[in-house]
Amino acid sequence: MPVVEAKGARIPLLGLGTWDLRGRVCARIVEQALRLGYRHVDTAEMYDNEREVGEGLRASGVRRDEFFVTTKIWPTHFAPRELQRAARDCLVRLRLSEVDLLLLHWPNPQIPLAETLGALGKVKRDGLVRNIGVSNFTVALLEQATQLSSEPLVCDQVECHPYLDQTKVITACRQHGMAVVAYSPIARGNARDDEVLARIGKKHGKTAAQVCLRFLVQQDIVVIPRTSKVERLAENAAVFDFNLRAEEMAEVAALAHSDGRVVDWAYSGRTKWD
Ligand SMILES: NC(=O)c1ccc[n+]([C@@H]2O[C@H](COP(=O)([O-])OP(=O)(O)OC[C@H]3O[C@@H](n4cnc5c(N)ncnc54)[C@H](OP(=O)(O)O)[C@@H]3O)[C@@H](O)[C@H]2O)c1
Repeated sequence: MPVVEAKGARIPLLGLGTWDLRGRVCARIVEQALRLGYRHVDTAEMYDNEREVGEGLRASGVRRDEFFVTTKIWPTHFAPRELQRAARDCLVRLRLSEVDLLLLHWPNPQIPLAETLGALGKVKRDGLVRNIGVSNFTVALLEQATQLSSEPLVCDQVECHPYLDQTKVITACRQHGMAVVAYSPIARGNARDDEVLARIGKKHGKTAAQVCLRFLVQQDIVVIPRTSKVERLAENAAVFDFNLRAEEMAEVAALAHSDGRVVDWAYSGRTKWD
């Protein structure tokens, strides 16, 4: 599995997203993904599935040092003491002694970023997590965060797919030596019926979803597609055996439009943290 290196972290280029996967479906998909060769799983305390993710990881039989687990702290837990407790709770639910990457899930303007980053850094120094990073941070917030954090921030996990132009945040990440992790990389499934992606895919013997994921990994952007269907796990992983030509990359990039976002930022509940 190819990896992206960022500030000492080695992040597998393909991971399994688990938002909305629950119970036995979640545990089974995680187990099957690892059996098929996935080496990276993305969860969050908010997904309410860390126990099942942990079950799937253990059931896979894959050694702990061979897979990479990301989890995220929800913004209601950004006060320093809360964050440290929340991080420990994640480990208890996952039944792991440390996670590979711990992210701030969304910005929380109600708690000073310096305090939250201070607590995140301490969690790393205490050995609970190997790497730390952020999610849903804008370019301006990234500038602040990289200045304020005493520990390196290895990534920004953001919505990223062909319908959304994320050039600015990708450029900022690269300037700071951070990886970009693309969430909703197949636009919540919308890319599956795209005529342009399907036409390009046909030339390579690939599906529209595979072209969509290839477009990202070919730019060294980590992808974490989610599926609840075992048969799609293999499809989403088969994106490392073909190359899109420059004109095909440009054609996919041209699908971006101003209302291409599929995850509503209002969902961040900016005024609802309390
Ligand atoms: N940091 C954040 O704030 C944030 C926000 C959103 C998501 N995420 C993370 O990113 C992960 C992925 O994003 P996402 O779940 O929003 O969306 P996504 O991965 O872009 O799309 C998932 C949808 O696509 C379908 N699908 C998957 N593979 C397919 C294929 N090969 N062909 C056709 N349809 C396919 C799935 O349906 P089936 O189940 O039927 O296959 C599901 O409905 C999440 O699970 C989560 O881990 C993070």
